Amino acid sequence: MNTVKTLRELRAAVAQARAEGKQIGFVPTMGNLHAGHVSLVEIASQRADFVVASIFVNPLQFGAGEDLDNYPRTLVADQEKLFAAGCHLLFHPDVTEMYPHGMDSQTRVTVQGVSEGLCGASRPGHFEGVATVVTKLFHMVQPDLAVFGEKDYQQLAVIRTLVRDLNMPIQIIGAPTQRAEDGLALSSRNGYLSAEQRATAPVLYRGLQGIADELKRGARDYARLIEHAQAQQREAGFVPDYLEIRNAISLRPAAIDDRHLVVLTAAQLGKTRLIDNLVVELPGQ
Ligand code: PAJ
Repeated sequence: MNTVKTLRELRAAVAQARAEGKQIGFVPTMGNLHAGHVSLVEIASQRADFVVASIFVNPLQFGAGEDLDNYPRTLVADQEKLFAAGCHLLFHPDVTEMYPHGMDSQTRVTVQGVSEGLCGASRPGHFEGVATVVTKLFHMVQPDLAVFGEKDYQQLAVIRTLVRDLNMPIQIIGAPTQRAEDGLALSSRNGYLSAEQRATAPVLYRGLQGIADELKRGARDYARLIEHAQAQQREAGFVPDYLEIRNAISLRPAAIDDRHLVVLTAAQLGKTRLIDNLVVELPGQ
């Protein structure tokens, strides 16, 4: 596996793979890789002949006071994991390679609708930063397919909408959330948790499971389900951000007769913001 830092090297390596008739798969990341990221690379290598991953901690998607400077950077360990998972090429650009003309004058990409609410409400500008960097990366790599995790459910919806609205010839594949044995969704940010906080953290997923069970038993009083789960979050020591039941496809607030639901939550544990979600499929009437 080669690691390249410049767009020129990236394009040369991808052009060679294309000339050999290979299909290109792409997995964008911010590094500090865990089994969740690795699963995306494995999916890409099953579906494509040449797998490109990127590691770039994108300043454009971090708000003021967020963890841009502290975000864990673990390149050597990441390279080993990528290689073992079947990655052929790692693109690891500097900020000046991605934004050579500065970030203030950078053209931005705004995805309407699905970017609003949920994480879009708590992190203004975040999805614009994501959509902008992913658009740039897509144009740099020009993959046939790209794999994103369902862990970041709203982000996946933003990317699907971006690709549809801007007619990008890229197949987007959603990959299931990888979890620790106690249910906590794997995340680079779990490393910020103290031992005590780590023991509390699975409360987030248990709350989603509780709501899913109630929905499957026929409960439709969404407000009561949400209130109950957020009270549990508070009792465990979280500061709840949002907990919502939405249509799994449109991401619009769930109607009473919706069958494809997703329950999404974000909450703060100490200084760490954790997110999770669970899709709930109800049998048709
Ligand atoms: P990052 O948080 O590094 O995540 C990279 C990819 O890994 C995303 O598609 C994310 O959904 C997926 N992922 C994270 N945790 C996962 C888990 N537990 N199971 C399965 N997949 C998981 O998301 C980003 O980076 C950035 O916003 C990016 C898309 C790279 C743009 O900068």
